[in-house]
Amino acid sequence: MDIIEVKEDKRAYIDLLLLADEQEDMIEKYLDRGTMYALVDNDVRAVCVVTDEGNSVLEIKNIAVKREYQKMGYGKKLIEFIEWKYKGSYNVLKVGTGDSALTVPFYEKCGFVKAYRVKNFFTDNYHHPIFEAGKQLVDMVYLEKSL
Ligand SMILES: CC(C)(COP(=O)(O)OP(=O)(O)OC[C@H]1O[C@@H](n2cnc3c(N)ncnc32)[C@H](O)[C@@H]1OP(=O)(O)O)[C@@H](O)C(=O)NCCC(=O)NCCS
Repeated sequence: MDIIEVKEDKRAYIDLLLLADEQEDMIEKYLDRGTMYALVDNDVRAVCVVTDEGNSVLEIKNIAVKREYQKMGYGKKLIEFIEWKYKGSYNVLKVGTGDSALTVPFYEKCGFVKAYRVKNFFTDNYHHPIFEAGKQLVDMVYLEKSL
């Protein structure tokens, strides 16, 4: 297993990125300025994109594991890699997600704690209602951990 930086043709992984963020124009807002990594284990099984948000804050903007490889530890491996890579360069790693049973427990397992929420983020910024685990996403929940 290897984790490599994707420097060219990030859009080749758009299907994977759309698993985590289902509206392409929202992905376009961070893809070029973000640093992208791919976890390769024979094939590319997961990707993530991180951005420098200033004030020593690094944000995970997108993390997605191919459906058939979810719940096998790849997501956690990517988070651990980001922590290792950026420890010493940033103070805080943060991530924003919908208030969903499919994502919040994953981040909490990875040591993140809930920090704040942005009210109505999904209803204000997405063209259509987004449902996850049968629940409409409304607010963006931010979780953080120290690096
Ligand atoms: C969310 C996602 C990145 C998690 O990656 P993953 O590889 O499936 O998760 P892992 O196998 O690394 O899980 C790590 C730990 O979190 C736990 N976990 C993962 N998803 C969970 C869930 N929905 N509920 C409870 N625990 C969960 C695992 O059981 C594991 O616990 P352990 O360390 O005690 O064994 C992945 O499922 C995914 O790509 N989902 C679709 C895209 C998406 O929603 N991305 C996030 C956008 S905010």
